[in-house]
Amino acid sequence: MDRRQFLIGLGAAGVVGAATLTGCGGDDSGGGGGGGGGTESTPASSPMEGGAGGDVGVFTWWAEGSEKEGLEALEGLFKEDYPNNTFVNLAVAGGAGSSAKAKLAADLQNGNPPDSFQGHAGAELIDYIDADQILPVNDVIDELGGADVFPQDLLDRITVNDDIYSVPSNVHRANVVWANPKVLAEAGASEQPGDLDAWLADMQKVKDSGVETPISVGGTWTQVQLFETILLAELGAEDYSALFTTEGDWESDGVKSAVEKYGKILEFANTASDGDDWPAATDAVIEGRAAYNVMGDWAVAQFASKDKVDGEDYTYFAVPGTEGVFDFLADSFTLPTGAKNEEGAKDWLRLVGSEEGQKAFNLAKGSIPARTDVAPDDFPPYQQSAMKSFKEDTIASSIAHGAAVSMAWLSDMSTAMSKFYSGRDEAGLQSDLASAAKTYAV
Ligand code: GAL
Repeated sequence: MDRRQFLIGLGAAGVVGAATLTGCGGDDSGGGGGGGGGTESTPASSPMEGGAGGDVGVFTWWAEGSEKEGLEALEGLFKEDYPNNTFVNLAVAGGAGSSAKAKLAADLQNGNPPDSFQGHAGAELIDYIDADQILPVNDVIDELGGADVFPQDLLDRITVNDDIYSVPSNVHRANVVWANPKVLAEAGASEQPGDLDAWLADMQKVKDSGVETPISVGGTWTQVQLFETILLAELGAEDYSALFTTEGDWESDGVKSAVEKYGKILEFANTASDGDDWPAATDAVIEGRAAYNVMGDWAVAQFASKDKVDGEDYTYFAVPGTEGVFDFLADSFTLPTGAKNEEGAKDWLRLVGSEEGQKAFNLAKGSIPARTDVAPDDFPPYQQSAMKSFKEDTIASSIAHGAAVSMAWLSDMSTAMSKFYSGRDEAGLQSDLASAAKTYAV
């Protein structure tokens, strides 16, 4: 029996929730590499000085704004370190892969994979492994330093049957409120509300001060992300983590109350259409049209790229009720089955996992390095605070960004959230979420 385990949530000191995936691939192969064979399943690679040569097509959704800058930082280093290779940027615009994931799925399905693509550590990666769409990269991870340089908990989320399937590039935090301190001061709202009720009261103050939409939202995935943080606030990390296992109770009073509070928050938000991406929602805070936006910490790069000053032009705090919890997601890069330039792709993975690659990329992206040996002092204050939180806080997995639920489960949840956004049927949302969990929780 093929038993796969990945962590759903873990404390700074250990696991608080775990899910076991059992035989979802339909056989016991454990993925395209033959599975179960540890490092035996991938031959040791022998990096060539200057790179293997040829085109290296890299697929991401980092096509605009600060995300593009992060990718460009990596591209610049790739050109310097591997001059024999030609970087081919296959990015498809749309935050959280809102358009990219469908294109990628079609390309993989049609046997036309890129040489490497971005995938989230956790449940999303397991989907690709189950579908035999990616190969183990144990050799690259070993070369980079393995568990000496990547946190074991993170490696666990990209490992199946002892094979490691991607190289992590970064860690992001999803439960961050980005705020405009000038708007808050003018409204007499607090700098950091203590809980969701206090936050709702502050939203009312902001509204009374003449700001029509105190909190900004974008399309559906941003709503899923906002909702997951409200779930976390209402349930706490342990019960939240249990939601992604058969132990979870989506029909509980806690989930009911989270749905109610989420509905109240939406009453203070702008009207968004599904195509509205995160930069527009963050810009609403930058420009003072909203006081708050809940966004992953890729947003800090947006403030920085517009020369906004930390503490003066913008502030940040954990979504009220989630202090001490780090709502986690991590990007990582894969080696697709059938990649045309496997050796060139491995050069890309080597760069992504290197100390210099992680420093350059994460400085531009707002995330923190996945590697533990990149010096915090080289990063601005927000990222330093995130590095500290990642070490000390309880870790919970993001729903919207592939850490907690499979792509099919996320798709059903997104449909439910979108329906709620237009219809505001609280009981309907809770029952849709419960029925999705019944279908997918294992
Ligand atoms: C996430 C991804 C982040 C960032 C964000 C917004 O899914 O992990 O790196 O790109 O989407 O696009």
